[in-house]
Amino acid sequence: MLSTLSLADHGPVIPVIVLQRIEHAVPLAEALVAGGVKVLEVTLRTPVAQACIEAIVKAVPQAIVGAGTLRGVADVRAARDAGCVFGVSPGYTREIGAACRDAKLPLLPGVATASEVMAANADGLTFLKFFPAVQAGGVAMLKALHGPFPDVSFCPTGGITADGAPSFLALPNVRVCGGSWLTPADALEQGDWARVTRLAREASTLHAAKKA
Ligand code: 3PG
Repeated sequence: MLSTLSLADHGPVIPVIVLQRIEHAVPLAEALVAGGVKVLEVTLRTPVAQACIEAIVKAVPQAIVGAGTLRGVADVRAARDAGCVFGVSPGYTREIGAACRDAKLPLLPGVATASEVMAANADGLTFLKFFPAVQAGGVAMLKALHGPFPDVSFCPTGGITADGAPSFLALPNVRVCGGSWLTPADALEQGDWARVTRLAREASTLHAAKKA
């Protein structure tokens, strides 16, 4: 079973993907991988999401595919059945933690407060999604959380762009960010996979800002 922290070994950005059409799934994943982005979070927000994940897992073996927007036990089962190797949730509940342990699905759970960090830590989780990152306090909040939680690292997600990511990546408790800017809805609608590859290449070569 993979460690969710190892997801950060593959590059500084995890794309948050919303797929409306099954025929977009494989070309989109191929376009991201071509741009150097292998870790993909496909959100379970659309009726075709599970079928899209299955198609990517089958056709794009280089991709490391996880399911996002896990909100309950049924979502965890859907993610596992589709062949995901990790899951991401917007928040954390003991129920979702237990469901992921039962399904042997490594979980990157969302938190936005110190109490939520403590609840996730109590269940053994120390790599957490900070969501919604910009809206919940951004870089300043993550700096503040580093004091009491020096052993916890975060994948900030929500409101982050290519311009904003370097400030997050400069923090000692951040190695990877999430965001939807690599997969704009209009690029998917137009089948503009070259644009997605370009955005992925830019994202995969982002560096930490000099000063956070
Ligand atoms: C989400 O779950 O929607 C992510 O946080 C993506 O947020 P973004 O669209 O602001 O990058």
